Amino acid sequence: MDEWIDYYDSTHTIYVSKLHRDRHFAVIARDIAGYITSPDAVVLDYACGEALSAGRVADACALLYLAEPAPGVRGRLIARFAPNTKIRVRSLEDVRKMAENSVDLVVMNSVAQYMTPDELDTAFATIKRILKPSGRFVLGDILRPEVGMFRDVLALLQFAARNGFLKDALIGLISTALSDYRELRTRVGLQRYSEDEIKERLAKSGFSASRALHNIGHNPWRMTFVARQPITTT
Ligand SMILES: C[S@@+](CC[C@H](N)C(=O)[O-])C[C@H]1O[C@@H](n2cnc3c(N)ncnc32)[C@H](O)[C@@H]1O
Repeated sequence: MDEWIDYYDSTHTIYVSKLHRDRHFAVIARDIAGYITSPDAVVLDYACGEALSAGRVADACALLYLAEPAPGVRGRLIARFAPNTKIRVRSLEDVRKMAENSVDLVVMNSVAQYMTPDELDTAFATIKRILKPSGRFVLGDILRPEVGMFRDVLALLQFAARNGFLKDALIGLISTALSDYRELRTRVGLQRYSEDEIKERLAKSGFSASRALHNIGHNPWRMTFVARQPITTT
């Protein structure tokens, strides 16, 4: 859904303050780094957003690809990480051209909700092709059908209280209620999947997946899945 890509390329107010944005990306980087099992790993962050703390992920692996569809965000990523020789910035078109069996870990966090089911299947097929047979695909922040916006608000307020930006979060929630985000969320909507639906979708794409104990990021009502290539015996 291109409208969501345009939204993320705009000067949106999804992060209520600089502190919120910084803490958000610090937590995401910590959680992604937790999935890296070897300093030799090649890692791909699929639709990474601003990825402000990607340096921390790069510290834990050999090579980090930051892939992002929004051209403005991508331009900032290129400028921000130019000095870091372990980081390469790519478009999603570039990702489709990456070599087969070349990546150890792919993370797609908080992205599936903005894709149509067909776009998601196409992304799964690309990821399956570029993942090494021993590789893992971590799919995070999946929204469930039965969990509504109230839990998102609660999760943000809890995160804000823990990190010292509660006042900004309360003000931010009011501006979000009046913003393009609210309008898009109502008009275009977000894709939601139950645990069984997303596992089935991953299985149709050739992955075997299990739900992780904890979701990536701050929202415990959303789900993360770890998908692997099936073991082949010869
Ligand atoms: C909420 S941000 C998540 C960024 C980052 N992965 C994180 O966890 O903070 C959503 C990301 O999805 C991307 N996006 C939106 N619609 C998309 C689509 N239809 N296909 C691929 N990516 C999309 C946006 O450009 C943005 O980078």
